[in-house]
Amino acid sequence: MFITFEGGDGSGKSTLIKLVTTELEKAGYDVFATREPGGSFVAEAIRDIVLNNKYKGISEYTEALLFAAARAEHLDKTILPQLKENKIVICDRFIDSSLAYQAYARNLGVDFVLNINKVAVENMPNLTFYIDIDPDVGISRIKNRRKNDRLDQETKDFHLKTRDGYLKLIEKYPNRIVKIDGTKSISELTNIIVEKIKEKLWNKLYLFLKKR
Ligand code: ADP
Ligand code: TYD
Repeated sequence: MFITFEGGDGSGKSTLIKLVTTELEKAGYDVFATREPGGSFVAEAIRDIVLNNKYKGISEYTEALLFAAARAEHLDKTILPQLKENKIVICDRFIDSSLAYQAYARNLGVDFVLNINKVAVENMPNLTFYIDIDPDVGISRIKNRRKNDRLDQETKDFHLKTRDGYLKLIEKYPNRIVKIDGTKSISELTNIIVEKIKEKLWNKLYLFLKKR
């Protein structure tokens, strides 16, 4: 099963992925956690370019193509091989990030972003958690903690547009994307997400057994 986490910067994705992974492993599942942009040798090299402040003036198209290139490489070298080994793959960001940030917030359009992400479109996640919080809350959570990368320095308007983009994606993919209220406590969120994953795994197993 392929699961992705989405949301604005500082919404809690990486914290929750760590905790959810631990809980699932305790329950006996084999989990592989990864992230985008990155997650394979070449994709991590692309990450160094695409998030680096040094390349502030990068064109919007180049940026979208770099995210798509990193994703194609990540799928080929990491995600698909791990899924073949029957692991539960959990990824911090995936194609919905490109749809929210590049298609909607940067206005490149959904069709363009889907077209350049053909390999990802052919391998969509089974389940996506969108962690929803006010962008101001997300930014304030991360502002003291790390050196800001290129996208962390975007305007408030940009972050509001990405949130609107995610809300449109929930309408577009209602069966895949689960909206989660990111203002709840970390432990509450972990429980909610673990339960949803287990429910989905049981449904998959039921459908599989029914087919046999
Ligand atoms: P992301 O990966 O989405 O950028 P992080 O997981 O790095 O976000 O979380 C950013 C910061 O917010 C961390 O310091 C984390 O401890 C804190 N945080 C995450 N989730 C919550 C939450 N539900 N409530 C309060 N603080 C949180
Ligand atoms: P990262 O440091 O991973 O931030 P976060 O903790 O918020 O996930 O930075 C990833 C940044 O890249 C983030 O601002 C979102 C952006 N991004 C895109 O614009 N498009 C994409 O396709 C992906 C994967 C990320």
